[in-house]
Order: sequence, then structure tokens, then C-alpha cells
Amino acid sequence: MVNDYRNSMNTGRLSRLKQLVPNVGLFFTKLPLEKAFYIEDERRSISKRRLVAPSFNDIRVILNTAQILELGTNFHSSSTDDRLKLVTFDGDVTLYEDGHSMEKDSLIIPEIIQLLKKGLYIGIVTAAGYSNPSGDKYYARLKGLVDCVNESEELNDEQKSNILVMGGEANFLFRLQGNRLLFINPKDWILNEMSTWDPQSILETLDFGAKILTDLKIKLGLPALVIRKERGVGLVPEPGVELHREQLEEVVLTCDYKLREFPPACRITYCAFNGGSDVWIDIGDKSLGVKVLQKFLSTKECNVRPHNTLHVGDQFAAIGANDYRARLSGSTCWIANPEETKNCLKDLNVYIDQWATI
Ligand code: IMP
Ligand code: MG
Repeated sequence: MVNDYRNSMNTGRLSRLKQLVPNVGLFFTKLPLEKAFYIEDERRSISKRRLVAPSFNDIRVILNTAQILELGTNFHSSSTDDRLKLVTFDGDVTLYEDGHSMEKDSLIIPEIIQLLKKGLYIGIVTAAGYSNPSGDKYYARLKGLVDCVNESEELNDEQKSNILVMGGEANFLFRLQGNRLLFINPKDWILNEMSTWDPQSILETLDFGAKILTDLKIKLGLPALVIRKERGVGLVPEPGVELHREQLEEVVLTCDYKLREFPPACRITYCAFNGGSDVWIDIGDKSLGVKVLQKFLSTKECNVRPHNTLHVGDQFAAIGANDYRARLSGSTCWIANPEETKNCLKDLNVYIDQWATI
């Protein structure tokens, strides 16, 4: 059905999959679902279980494995235009635990180094927005990765510089150079669709967002602070307290509802999401963040399109989740914690290596 749906895209024909799931998204590559099922069945005993039906998580990982299998096996295809070139990662929950940083002993780092060695570009596309061009804040959160890559004897200088950081969804771009992150001027990467945003609409959207968050904080009696940044506004818990999931959901759904009706917000792109312990309204979204990396690399180095891109993240629920929009710009893997990210990358490296020897 996936293949048939992909074929139907060029013809305008209504495929069976589209009929069954009218809001089905885009598939940028084929998905070997049957093979992926056999792999995950071995790992999770899906078909041998008698009392527990296939779960949401079983299906999520089967889809991840199918995506990785396809990208891994296609890596040595004769047409370089078809293969994986860019792997992007969300930060919190994907590369490190929520609110933590990437330490040197992270088991994800050796897998990323193997990908760099294969000539892939690595992007970190995070909502965390730090406008300071020194890149110090991003360095602090990614120190383990930056230092290990910089010190690696397996990588040459060009491969080391193939790490990019896109912060604040799609607002601040940095590239690894030596042991620091070099700020890249937005004029070198800004997308046409972003350059038409009027600064007044951005300002009014952030002011309105701050007002909604402040009103909700009072109305719901939340022990929280409203934090304003250059390209985002957030509601974060006071030190030492946690907000309940239901409170965060109430805040994000209200923000989403009110912003949809607010004309200045409709003139730009924004996203409102529940970060697990806080809620943020950011200017831009991760579909633009991934597109910026594609455009930046395409103008400078090599043509990168959605089917050459994989985004790994934890937030793919349709409402109030900020990795969801990245689905518009590339293929994706939906992970639940950094351990799953490591496992996905391990599989990807194995599939690429296996096919290299066949
Ligand atoms: P991500 O998972 O890497 O996209 O990061 C999301 C988390 O970054 C949020 O849950 C916040 O805790 C944190 N954060 C820090 N600054 C910002 C900001 O300016 N916008 C959105 N999230 C931010
Ligand atoms: Mg995350």
C-alpha cells in the first residue's frame, strides 16, 4: 500500500492507503515493512506473544527499522542522488535526557563518528534557542560530542566540520570548527519563505504568546515563570517543582487554539509545543530547521533533498509536539529515549556496512 500510494502521487489517482487514512503524510522513500517486521519480531517476540497484542510501540519501532533498513541498504546505490546524506537529531530526550547535556561517555557519540566517517553530514535541530553568536551555550550542551569529534583520530578535518547545529527551531545556525561552534550569518542560509516574515508580526506573536502564557499561569495557578527570548517565549516551572502532564497539555492546546486565530501569527510560521516539563511558543519550526540545513549544504557542498535526509526525534504526536513538522522535510525515526537513538544508529551503521560488502 505504501508503494502504491507513492506511485499514485505523480498521477493524482486515489490510492487505497489514502482512502483508508485520508490524512496520511508523505513517504520520501520506500519502506520495507515486511523485512522490518521480521527483525523486530525476533527482538520483541511480537508473533509469539499470546496475551499482549501488538502495541503502539511495536509499530513505532517497526516503522523506524523499515526506514533505517531502506536508507542503509540504499546507501551504496549506483545513483548518489538517491542516498542518505544528512542525519539530523533533536536534542532533549533524543541525544541526552531532558534538560541534560551530551557527555563524553554517551554511547551515541561513537555511532555518530561512524556516520561522519562514511561522509554523512550531522545536524542537531533543537528548539533550544540561544541567540549569542559565541555558540557557548550550544557548546555547553553538546560538549561531549564536540570534544570527541574534535579529538577523534578516525576523522579528517573535513569530516569533523560536517556537524551543524540549528538552534531555536530554525533561527540560529552554527558549524563545528575545531573545538568551537562557529556562528553562520543568516544571510547565508535564510529561506525565501522566512525572509518575507515581517519583524512586527514576529514581535506581536511573541507578545501575544507571552500574554496567553501569563494568563494561563494565573488562571490555572501554576508555579511557573514566563520566559521571553529573542525568538521564543516559554512557560517553565519554578525551580524544584514539576508541572503535571495535564497542565502542560492544557497550556499547549490553549496556545495552539488562540494563535491560530491571531492574524500576525498567521502571517509567519510558529510552533507551540509541550517540551515534557515546559511549554514553548517559538518562531519557525523544525520543518524549516531541516530545510535550512538542506539549503545550506546544497548551495555550498552537495545537493540534499528530503529523501536524502533522516530526522531522529522524540516529539511526533500531531499536536503540541515539535519534531512532527520535520516530517515535511525528510524521512524520520520516532524514538522514546537516547538509548533508542543509539540502537537506531547502531542498526543504520550495520546496514550500511553490510551492504558495502555484498
Ligand atoms: P529539543 O527537544 O532539543 O527540541 O529542545 C526542547 C527543549 O529545549 C524545551 O523543552 C526547553 O526545555 C528547552 N528550551 C530552551 N530554550 C528554548 C527556546 O528558546 N525555545 C524552545 N525550547 C527551549
Ligand atoms: Mg526532544
